[in-house]
Amino acid sequence: MSIAKPAPPSFDASFRARFAELVRWRRDVRRFRSDPVKPELIAQLLALASHAPSVGFCQPWRFVLVESAARRAAIIENFKSANQSALAGYDGERRALYAGLKLEGLTQAPVHLVVCADEGAATGHRLGRVTMPETLHYSVVAAIQTFWLAARAEGLGVGWVSILDPAAACRQLELPSDWKLIAYLCVGWPEEEHDDPELARHGWETRLDPAVIEPLKR
Ligand SMILES: Cc1cc2nc3c(=O)[nH]c(=O)nc-3n(C[C@H](O)[C@H](O)[C@H](O)COP(=O)(O)O)c2cc1C
Repeated sequence: MSIAKPAPPSFDASFRARFAELVRWRRDVRRFRSDPVKPELIAQLLALASHAPSVGFCQPWRFVLVESAARRAAIIENFKSANQSALAGYDGERRALYAGLKLEGLTQAPVHLVVCADEGAATGHRLGRVTMPETLHYSVVAAIQTFWLAARAEGLGVGWVSILDPAAACRQLELPSDWKLIAYLCVGWPEEEHDDPELARHGWETRLDPAVIEPLKR
């Protein structure tokens, strides 16, 4: 007896236009309202993120919700110290510009979500990873991007904080030794909506001319 499969969806022009809008309006958010986010919504978004592609179908993403106030405080201190070191690497105008940027929303974000790669996972049977082991990490980034877009579709903001000492963060969060920290994400309802990156608005960097991303032909 054959089991009927659902008909594949048809994505029409209006869906494609809305999807393009979603991609263009996804932002890295650092300014959050303090209203809570329902745990069911986060669970739903993580389930969707788990449909991301992964090398050998290894599904190496592991998620950690940082709920302890003490652990959050340790991560905030970690950021402050890493950010001071980063600032020390700039001079002159660039340094002044860097010092004025808001690069995280750790204090306001109602949800702190850590995304790790399980380097000990046997799933996927090493397919693709023998030649390019880094694809394990890329697979986790694919899940993060899926989460980011799905969150934006719900009106939820996501901010990626990489200005952290990762080894110290793993200790502060007591992560399993074979989990590699890929992202520390702040999640919550954004205070503002923008169609351009915060770093563009504050003069740090401009969007590349499309000519630069034209593919080389070989
Ligand atoms: C891997 C990664 C790490 C990032 N780390 C930080 C960070 O530590 N602090 C920050 O303010 N933004 C961080 N961002 C966000 C970028 O600054 C942001 O994506 C970029 O400025 C473009 O803005 P948009 O995401 O709003 O389009 C990170 C983004 C990525 C992809």
